[in-house]
Amino acid sequence: MKTTLDIAGQTFTLHRHPIQKNETLQAWDAADEYLIEELENSVLPDNAHILIFNDGFGALSCWAIQKGYRVTMVSDSHLAQLSTDQNLKDNNLEGVDIISSLAPLPVDADIIVMKLPKYTRFLVWQLQQISHSARMNVQVLAGAKAKDIHTSTLKLFEKHLGSTHTSLAKKKARLIFCQKEKQLESAPAETTSFDVADYKMTLQNHANVFSSESLDIAAYLMLEHIPSDESIGHIIDLGCGNGVLSVEAARRNPQAKVTAVDESHMAVASASANLLNHGITAERVECRVNNCLDGFPSNSADMVLCNPPFHQLNTVTDHIAWQMFCDARQVLEPKGRIVVIGNRHLGYHAKLKRLFGNAQVIASNRKFVIVEAYKQPDSKGMR
Ligand SMILES: C[S@@+](CC[C@H](N)C(=O)[O-])C[C@H]1O[C@@H](n2cnc3c(N)ncnc32)[C@H](O)[C@@H]1O
Repeated sequence: MKTTLDIAGQTFTLHRHPIQKNETLQAWDAADEYLIEELENSVLPDNAHILIFNDGFGALSCWAIQKGYRVTMVSDSHLAQLSTDQNLKDNNLEGVDIISSLAPLPVDADIIVMKLPKYTRFLVWQLQQISHSARMNVQVLAGAKAKDIHTSTLKLFEKHLGSTHTSLAKKKARLIFCQKEKQLESAPAETTSFDVADYKMTLQNHANVFSSESLDIAAYLMLEHIPSDESIGHIIDLGCGNGVLSVEAARRNPQAKVTAVDESHMAVASASANLLNHGITAERVECRVNNCLDGFPSNSADMVLCNPPFHQLNTVTDHIAWQMFCDARQVLEPKGRIVVIGNRHLGYHAKLKRLFGNAQVIASNRKFVIVEAYKQPDSKGMR
């Protein structure tokens, strides 16, 4: 796997942080390279302020700060922020202002550079944010895999910002050139909501939240099977998204505290709002932006609920699910349990059995299985 990016006479060492054993994926893509080559050919004022949206692992931020520009990188992903920060340090670079997607945008950007996000709703929200707060006529340069740029994508740029055209494809990547000619008077709505009638819930969702427009079908099955047990004192909803599982777990276990964890700032903000809106009192709730359960004390939870991700950015992966299971095993009390839902073909049953030394299917349908595993005080589960 390549870890050295040679571009425009510069060399950067870049990793996907936190580094995985046997990592096979590099920390930048052809769209990053295309964007950097295009920016190298652009005329920018000295000390220009470059506003970067959704830098994956920090390649764009490293390049821009090394050129001497002022750089702000905005991302909803805690992992992207960690990775950008670490790659800057590894290349002896500093000075990038890394902000969350929930923070106000700087208003003085001289150029806006964007990696297209995965969710269209989030793209629209970011375009509206730019329309609301960036300078008139600022150039917006976006990049992505060519297969992810459709006519409908270009229409969104036209609709929310102004004149838009696209480049030829290069190494299967393509660029979008757009100029901000429109001004949105009020800030875009922070959240939208949908109802889960069977569970009497109305869920608020920030734009980048998983399944933000309707309930995920796996989560719907999981809701029915969330355990209720008076001995449970602390529940962790790992990869909480909008917090739908946290809300139901808190209702079924009124004696328990609930910690909702996600690497997305918008997910954690949504979960926090949803728990409080559904009458779960603030003393019972902690909502935390985190990579899996990094930094959580051992033996501190009685139950971990998990509907794991199988994508990181646009890459299908199961290493995050595995990391979540390993962390849960560490953080659970002896006799504590993990309850996991996943697509049948993902084989979570075998993985949990390997790790915990036991695993039982507690429910299933044609597509999904729910597996429960207990931490056995004397088990020597494999890692
Ligand atoms: C399949 S969604 C489940 C969301 C919600 N629990 C539900 O059931 O609808 C998986 C969630 O894991 C989060 N996630 C991905 N990687 C993570 C990581 N390294 N640490 C914490 N959460 C992560 C994603 O942001 C996403 O919200």
